[in-house]
Amino acid sequence: MSLLIKSGTLVTAEDVFSADILIEGETIAAIGVNLHVPDAEVIDASGRLILPGGVDPHVHLDLPMAGTVSSDDHYTGTKAAAFGGTTTVIDFVSQDYPTLREAVDRLRAKADQKVAVDYGLHMNITRFDEQVAGEIPCLPDLGVTSLKVFTAYNGRLRLQDGEIFQVLRIAGQNGLLTMLHAENGDVIEILISEALAAGHTSPEWHARTRPAWGAVEAVMRAAALAAQAGAPLYIVHMNAAGEVDMLHYARQRGVPVMGETCPQYLFFTEDDLRRPDGAKWVCSPPVRTPDDQERLWEGLADGILQTIGTDHCPFFYNGNQPLVYEGQPVAIPGKELGKDDFTKIPNGLPAVGDRLPVLWTYGVGSGRLTPSQFVALTSTNPAKIFGLYPRKGALFPGSDADIVIWDPERSLKYGRAHAMHRTDYNLYEGWELKGYPEKVFLRGRLIVDGEHWLGQAGAGKFLRRQPGAPTL
Ligand code: URP
Ligand code: ZN
Ligand code: ZN
Repeated sequence: MSLLIKSGTLVTAEDVFSADILIEGETIAAIGVNLHVPDAEVIDASGRLILPGGVDPHVHLDLPMAGTVSSDDHYTGTKAAAFGGTTTVIDFVSQDYPTLREAVDRLRAKADQKVAVDYGLHMNITRFDEQVAGEIPCLPDLGVTSLKVFTAYNGRLRLQDGEIFQVLRIAGQNGLLTMLHAENGDVIEILISEALAAGHTSPEWHARTRPAWGAVEAVMRAAALAAQAGAPLYIVHMNAAGEVDMLHYARQRGVPVMGETCPQYLFFTEDDLRRPDGAKWVCSPPVRTPDDQERLWEGLADGILQTIGTDHCPFFYNGNQPLVYEGQPVAIPGKELGKDDFTKIPNGLPAVGDRLPVLWTYGVGSGRLTPSQFVALTSTNPAKIFGLYPRKGALFPGSDADIVIWDPERSLKYGRAHAMHRTDYNLYEGWELKGYPEKVFLRGRLIVDGEHWLGQAGAGKFLRRQPGAPTL
């Protein structure tokens, strides 16, 4: 069956133009003006924008943390993604098994039957030895072409600088991309001990014990390691003005380093952590200051930063109180675990469904980003950087027909009811939005139609990625 989407305005990373799109099966077959296909089902998209489905390069679904688990699993999180116009997500594999292969296989055994949009995987490298060094080059056989390393979480996730250098070098030699969580683990450990000893237990101390300077120096340190390893690097969840400055410095000197920020760092500050319900905003790295927000927006507009992901990692605010999800009561321990100690608050927040609608109104609507920059940052660039382009992130003949019909005139008061995350709060509750996804197609199949969910668990595909993706 053919589907013809007529008279829409296509928004790509390069251009905005009027055209019809013909979909045959799972892919885009043609793009042109006044296409006529006698037997096709026709959707009139006049007055609507047509965007490539969002690509979120940073989500944590069903992630065990702090004695609980992130409350969106691979079904509920990908359903929420779809409602927000995102049709591809990339999740992380924890290195919790004897081999990397087993870790990837275990995650896929859970996720493949649940995902409702397409997904890929990054591999966390949190333990490094000769065996791991020998396994990294085999990751492309598993469809995995990116690794994440950490300069924080001492004794749990952190690698030493020499180990990060070796990971970078092996990754670079094999066409893989290393991603970095940039904070200073040593300083954080000292500040946390001192804060607890002084009786400081409230959420704002989460930010006060993770200073921005630690992130700034870790970005510079890792960029220097990447330069010495001759390998590309991608800094995840950038949150501080100084990080943008360091990224700019390294890029100007030809270091192949790229950066991602997330909506929470553009819209919230440490003041939110001081609210009575401040635990809702606890994530790592923490939200910062208005000056940091300003520099991040500049970095996006100037091309210093390449992507906006989400770091979606939701928890309940009150995990003692069930909510009803698809007719069933669900309660998962959450932020209340840290009510007497900020170090016990599970780190992370809901975001995957919020990303496109909130950024459209407060990024494009406010004039900070053009529509094409919005598409580049949230879809095309992540697809390119992570080896999915032009299958994903593009509106070309041959691309997967992951398409969002976007109503630029739809106004709504946003919140939890729209976002569809499986958690009991939304950070943007009551925000006024203008512009919203109307229909979402995954490989030619309509999965969101207004308020209606037409998708299904297991309909998403695992995306095997190829090494050698470009540095932007
Ligand atoms: O608070 C966060 N970001 N949780 C997820 C883990 C990470 O470091 O990205
Ligand atoms: Zn991280
Ligand atoms: Zn993360």
